[in-house]
Amino acid sequence: MTFIDFKKQQFHLEECSATALAEQYGTPLYVYSKAQLLDNWQRFTRYWPAPHRLCYAVKANSNLAILQLLAAQGAGFDIVSGGELKRVLKAGGKAESVVFSGVAKSVEELTFALQQGIGCINVESAAELERIQMVAQQLGLMAPVSLRVNPDVDAQTHPYIATGMKANKFGIAMADAMPVFRRAHELPNIQLLGADCHIGSQIMTPAPFLDAAERMFQLVERLQSENITLTHLDLGGGFGVSYEGTASLDLEAYLTGVLKMAENYPQLTLVLEPGRAIIADAGVLLTRVEYLKETDDKRFALVDAGMNDLLRPSLYQAWHDIVAVDEANNGRGKLVDVVGPVCETGCFLGHARHLTITGGDLLAVKHVGAYGFTMSSNYNTRAKPAEVLVDGANSFLIRARETFDDLIRGERLLDRT
Ligand code: LLP
Repeated sequence: MTFIDFKKQQFHLEECSATALAEQYGTPLYVYSKAQLLDNWQRFTRYWPAPHRLCYAVKANSNLAILQLLAAQGAGFDIVSGGELKRVLKAGGKAESVVFSGVAKSVEELTFALQQGIGCINVESAAELERIQMVAQQLGLMAPVSLRVNPDVDAQTHPYIATGMKANKFGIAMADAMPVFRRAHELPNIQLLGADCHIGSQIMTPAPFLDAAERMFQLVERLQSENITLTHLDLGGGFGVSYEGTASLDLEAYLTGVLKMAENYPQLTLVLEPGRAIIADAGVLLTRVEYLKETDDKRFALVDAGMNDLLRPSLYQAWHDIVAVDEANNGRGKLVDVVGPVCETGCFLGHARHLTITGGDLLAVKHVGAYGFTMSSNYNTRAKPAEVLVDGANSFLIRARETFDDLIRGERLLDRT
């Protein structure tokens, strides 16, 4: 179901018109639909009964209000830094509902996570396991861990976001996994809960997921034959969304397929770490056209949002639908490149779009709720945009637009030159 669409020829998020939101809060502006977020969440929970768990991948969108809404739904969280853990706690999430991924966790982060009572640390290497043992011993605690194994499947996605092949920096190679599990089983301050994997992001078919799951279940059996019993199997995130209106991942087929495989392992609690599929299509970026520029062979709309606000097109050549908020201005007109103000040729939001645009028009870039704001930066000393949450006809500022003072906080002039 979609809660973000045209109503009476004007682009709306739920009952709020994009035009009114832009007037009230300014542009560029990230806006999220609460109804869409909750609908996406329930799409997972419908096919994923307790005791199995869903840990939302905080990196997709870490705004406190978003985390708060998910915590209220009973979500767990997947984090990759001490900072993300602090966000979860601040938003009302519980440390015991958190799994901690990430390839280079520092002693400080591990100490903080263990002191808070983290649910599980996803261990990415044999060296990290030794570090966790040392930290847990110093704290006089048992560290709950899962070992991240690299199942070596091709996720058939963009190479920058494929993580489950041998050549990636993530996880322990399947061939090397057994001795690390044995070691984890023996270490005095390690409580070996389970295994995990994450094969990549924006995966559009169930096949690679099911392939990885099968390999993980085989691993569980191999360990069982050595009397190492796992109770937790985390199969990561990566559920693709349809940016271009093509068929999306058949989530139901994947979730029911995995649950079927798991029937033979009643001791296992399954965990998933969805990020994008929960929040991507719940967010849009509103941007205003500053100028139009025409050259011999090109037409540019120079807009007030750039690669610092939304990096995905520049970094991955990701395609995002861009609509004029006035419905009549879509699908017609000359082809136009929608480009941002940052001083890089690579600063664009979309190339060759059919839009009828005049200076001052408002555009909406769609499906930017995930990896949109969280990947934004202050490049070119540009303040990060505000974020707003829409709930029916109401809107709430959930992050104020940055000011110049925010940007230079912490910087110091020299006493003398
Ligand atoms: N779990 C782990 C261990 C991960 O590394 C990730 C994403 C997730 C879960 C969530 O994956 P999702 O369900 O969101 O696909 N910036 C890129 C995506 C990077 C994903 C990194 N890891 C993009 O904008 O497409």
